[in-house]
Amino acid sequence: MKLFITGGAGFIGSNHIRLLLASDPDVEIVNFDALTYAGNLENLRDIAEDPRYRFVRGNITNASEVLGSLEEGVDAIVNFAAESHVDRSIESAAEFVLTNVAGTQVLLDAARMRKVPRFVHVSTDEVMGSLDDGGFFTEDSPLAPNSPYAASKAAAEHLVRAAMKTHGLDVVITRCSNNYGPYQFPEKLIPLVIANAMEGKIVPVYGDGLQVRDWIYVDDHCRAVDAVMRKAATGSVYCIGARSERANLEVIRTILDAVGAPHSLITYVSDRPGHDRRYAIDPVRVESEVGWSPQVTFEEGIAKTVAWYRDSAEWIAHARSGEYREFYEKNLAWRETMKS
Ligand SMILES: NC(=O)c1ccc[n+]([C@@H]2O[C@H](COP(=O)([O-])OP(=O)(O)OC[C@H]3O[C@@H](n4cnc5c(N)ncnc54)[C@H](O)[C@@H]3O)[C@@H](O)[C@H]2O)c1
Repeated sequence: MKLFITGGAGFIGSNHIRLLLASDPDVEIVNFDALTYAGNLENLRDIAEDPRYRFVRGNITNASEVLGSLEEGVDAIVNFAAESHVDRSIESAAEFVLTNVAGTQVLLDAARMRKVPRFVHVSTDEVMGSLDDGGFFTEDSPLAPNSPYAASKAAAEHLVRAAMKTHGLDVVITRCSNNYGPYQFPEKLIPLVIANAMEGKIVPVYGDGLQVRDWIYVDDHCRAVDAVMRKAATGSVYCIGARSERANLEVIRTILDAVGAPHSLITYVSDRPGHDRRYAIDPVRVESEVGWSPQVTFEEGIAKTVAWYRDSAEWIAHARSGEYREFYEKNLAWRETMKS
């Protein structure tokens, strides 16, 4: 199976590639990634020389770069590439529209031109907004995004669906809850708390810290994306979650205990504007139709993740120093032109 994976140098994409190479001897992967601040080839250092794997630096908003690397004969495009950090989308949404919306359309057009038989679009539960009055997200929940990030992912989903309805492209969409695990950039909650706790630095908590997220260990998400890619019917949408709801404050306290750091590091800061209160997934459809189920409990996952960050001081230092941002900075001029 030949796969064209976008965003494979990021957190989930790199875990996905590692998992596929370990579990499928017949897989061949092109990892197409622009290496923004979130793309880090150190995430893939251990598999970089695998003959079944090839990295191409390219931007999904650039049709000629995509077409130049997408050969006929590819069995599926798996689209992880995105601007993914909600706080950054509040600061400036333009990058999010460019990559998440326009970039997805470029990939859909390229998939048609190269006759790619399957397009897997990795979306997020955040497209469905916030569950303030209880209940669970299902595949039938309406799209009601609240942040520019979520809105751009929802827009992308509409384009993916339209490519199927209008042009007959074979597409599937996954909407997963919050991931955690190795190689997550230390601006996101769990790695930020682990890294700060290990260094004895304050741990910022938005608002009252009672926002609820439904946490899933990254490998479980990757196994779900793979199962959906191989087994799902055309046009399917699947919500993916591990039935692991936790308030942010509870997550932070669990991590501080696992690291052995005092709870006094917790420091309350003003809440994020438009901060969603609760996400929770009902994963029954993906479990019954695709045969996937999560394998890692929250407690096991946190223990593995803390252990990984403990052993990865160099990775954290490099991620925080931002050395690998050079390419991103060089492209800022181009991005400014696109924005204006
Ligand atoms: N992290 C989560 O909890 C979560 C949950 C559900 C869904 N998702 C979705 O999963 C996907 C991956 O998320 P992540 O957390 O790994 O993100 P990430 O920010 O760690 O990685 C994104 C990757 O995409 C690349 N990229 C960004 N813009 C690009 C462009 N224009 N062209 C090519 N590559 C580009 C980056 O260089 C990076 O390697 C995203 O689509 C995200 O919306 C994430």
